[in-house]
Amino acid sequence: MNNDNRHDLILILDFGAQYTLLIARRLRECGVYCEVIAPDCAMAEILNKKPKGLIFSGGPESVYAKNAPRVLPEIYQAGIPILGICYGQQLMAHDLGGQVDAAGNREYGHAHLILRSTDALFEGYASPGDQLTCWMSHGDKVLVPPAGFQITAVTESAPVAAMADEVRHFYGVQFHPEVAHTPFGKKLLQQFALGPCGCRADWKPATIIEDAVADIQRQVGSAQVICGVSGGVDSCTVAALIHKAIGDQLTCIFVDHGLLRAGEAEQVRNDFAEALGIHLIYADVKERFLAKLKGVEDPEQKRKIIGEEFVRVFEQYASDVQDAKFLAQGTLYPDVIESGGSSNAHTIKTHHNVGGLPADMNLTVIEPLRMLFKDEVRAVAHELGLPKGMVWRHPFPGPGLAIRVIGEVTEDRLAILRAADEIFMNELHSSGWYEKLSQALVVLTPIRSVGVMGDQRTYSHPVVLRAVITDDFMTASAARIDYDILDKISSRIVNEVNGINRVVYDLTSKPPGTIEWE
Ligand code: XMP
Repeated sequence: MNNDNRHDLILILDFGAQYTLLIARRLRECGVYCEVIAPDCAMAEILNKKPKGLIFSGGPESVYAKNAPRVLPEIYQAGIPILGICYGQQLMAHDLGGQVDAAGNREYGHAHLILRSTDALFEGYASPGDQLTCWMSHGDKVLVPPAGFQITAVTESAPVAAMADEVRHFYGVQFHPEVAHTPFGKKLLQQFALGPCGCRADWKPATIIEDAVADIQRQVGSAQVICGVSGGVDSCTVAALIHKAIGDQLTCIFVDHGLLRAGEAEQVRNDFAEALGIHLIYADVKERFLAKLKGVEDPEQKRKIIGEEFVRVFEQYASDVQDAKFLAQGTLYPDVIESGGSSNAHTIKTHHNVGGLPADMNLTVIEPLRMLFKDEVRAVAHELGLPKGMVWRHPFPGPGLAIRVIGEVTEDRLAILRAADEIFMNELHSSGWYEKLSQALVVLTPIRSVGVMGDQRTYSHPVVLRAVITDDFMTASAARIDYDILDKISSRIVNEVNGINRVVYDLTSKPPGTIEWE
């Protein structure tokens, strides 16, 4: 998606803080469009984007460090409101003649902010003398603000916890308004954007769709587009958006490798493609994948086989689409930023579930979600009328159940796992737990354990239930699902699924564990 100044824009200069993306997410949640760029971006490029405001993010460096990231001095002359956060505040103070203490004593955690005066950022919800809880994570701190600035808040250890020059509309905060531990933080960011910057809060699912549709129509013209769909929210939203824009010029390809969960293929074919009138090629290649996986136990080998076979199948079916010029992918904004791309750089992250770009097909990639966060994709999906189960579906790995059947993947093992997984999912849905979880899965182990059922001794497989809560899937903790619910799930699985006689719940956090078992 290309802004083209259809929306008022805040530019976030990324100095490398782990929280930078959160700043962008918070602003977007307020309906304000923003983009993240590198701080060494040329002034002309910044001005060309016509931002209504700039945010300098936090960062790990000290402003006194030799290679500390800087901004061009002209940025302060451009008449654009600026909010500096943590390193961003220190940089602004340093550049404009204030004093920064480089003692480097780290302060980390909750702090009490005492308000000295209210500026545009605090107006309306806090008054001088008020104490507010905020989150600190810094070494250096501003000791003396530059000329023209007032100290608006202090903490016990930060004499300039917030500062403002209301004439130039320059603001600095030592704390992190973007994290949930600063309860008023989102309000502060919103007030900066809507107040001094004068942004309209017009970044809404309906306008996102309108813009994307216009962009796709302009880019694609009368050409044919191919889109791989997996049943996940990203690929299906891409398909639905493109279909809205160009209708029958879109052909979707759904590769059923037989490693899907119960009901998933039907959902994609009926509730999605048929319900929305999308032309879908259904590639039923279950046998082909099972044959390739026969006798393979090593997880990385499984992944490799599935990935390669996927590309082959995809290419084969895609080559049947006459005159295709474009291949649509579900790349999201965090991937674009992570791979070092500004909104202009063309970065292609190969979508897991499409497995790779068909090499010799000469297709141009289109990525209608490349400026969106996951929660925005879900909002767009909902607005486009995708099935609820698809909109809120947990992530599901490209290699599917193959990496949840530990050891060799066989049809029988897949059937057992699928049945257990279906019970787990149904119970999570009916107990209201599904939406509280980031991801839930069942793993079928190859070991066997002794059990007893009726008068019979059993000797069959344990399954592992795993349910995690995470923001970013890099770290995760095991969900504390109520014992009664786990108990019900366990007895249902053991009673209803032939071949399972024991259910265990995985309590390991990530790290040291991973979310999947393979
Ligand atoms: P781990 O197990 O590394 O998983 O903690 C983190 C997230 O990545 C997903 N995952 C995969 N997704 N292909 C995918 O498309 C894969 O090979 C793969 N392996 C793990 C996993 O489900 C979790 O959401």
